[in-house]
Amino acid sequence: MSLIENIKSAAKGKYKTIVLPEGEAERTLRAADIIIQEGIAKLILVGDKETISINAKQFGLKNIDKAEIYDANTDSRNCELVDLLYELRHKKGLSKAGAREFCKDPLYIGPLLIKLGYADGEVAGAENSTGNVLRPAFQIVKTAPNSTVVSGAFIMVLKDKNFGQDGLMVFADCAVNPNPNAKQLAEIAIASARTAKAIAKLEPKVAMLSFSTKGSGSHDDVNKVVEATKIARTMAPEIQIDGELQADAAIVEAIGKSKAPGSYIAGKANVLVFPTLDAGNISYKLVQRLAGAEAIGPVLQGMAAPINDLSRGCSINDIVNLVAITANQVK
Ligand code: ACO
Repeated sequence: MSLIENIKSAAKGKYKTIVLPEGEAERTLRAADIIIQEGIAKLILVGDKETISINAKQFGLKNIDKAEIYDANTDSRNCELVDLLYELRHKKGLSKAGAREFCKDPLYIGPLLIKLGYADGEVAGAENSTGNVLRPAFQIVKTAPNSTVVSGAFIMVLKDKNFGQDGLMVFADCAVNPNPNAKQLAEIAIASARTAKAIAKLEPKVAMLSFSTKGSGSHDDVNKVVEATKIARTMAPEIQIDGELQADAAIVEAIGKSKAPGSYIAGKANVLVFPTLDAGNISYKLVQRLAGAEAIGPVLQGMAAPINDLSRGCSINDIVNLVAITANQVK
């Protein structure tokens, strides 16, 4: 079975409730139809009940009536959502009237349904920007205990099986933090190792990437990666991690041996942690386009409950897959 088939099969076993805030949109509805038919998750679709029903009929979808629908105009839980949002955000200046307005926004409704225990996770972003999906998630669901930063990892399925573990690698942060500090980078590394283990079933070998290998370059940016490596080792001594390493030293055995002799990660890395979002986001897209890799994600890590963000260029299949991954992240 392929990785994604394994992930779907595990999701079916868990059968968690995932909320889809973009419930009226064609791709979401078509994905929902497949998810329900295959039994991957229970779904809550957010949107106008009538519009969802009309759209489902128009697209010839047979399973949508098995999804729960949250219609902000009529749902009896609306007051509960408003009260919770007000409670969470009034110290940040949110008024009751403001909370009522936000509770009409599907991207706020999703995290609120999770926080209230009506849903286990959320997938959104086919119709909305990353920032608009993440902001309410950060404000309402917040970070997991012992975590201060949310980041986004991609599981990269490479054509060349000589890299990573049989062609599987995890890249992070490719989605959230433009310029993490050393402590945040350390947290990103630890979270990525855990994602690699939990979702991609890898035995994580984490490389902290830089333009320098073991002191070959000197710059504040290099110092940040060296410091992050130290912090990560202290925070999670059980994780195999090394840095600072250049990308070639991290993934090519011969170069790893020559540039970082004695390193137990150099040449064998399967989790690549990038020093900035520029580096991570650009790298995953280049590997995807130039090397024909499949990029699964971003899988958001460090959140108290799983919320994942789709690319607006996503396919129906991408939505199905991300719902399966999200269901697997539920604790
Ligand atoms: N982890 C946890 N919490 C966070 C994080 C984080 N990484 N970033 C912000 N927050 C929290 C803040 O603490 C704050 O909480 P509070 O209001 O309770 O105090 C809340 O979120 C809002 O914080 P702001 O700094 O005001 O959030 P802002 O809107 O400026 O930024 C955002 C957050 C939207 C995620 C921003 O970092 C961003 O735009 N990142 C880049 C996203 C992006 O464009 N990615 C590339 C595309 S994705 C792709 O290609 C796959």
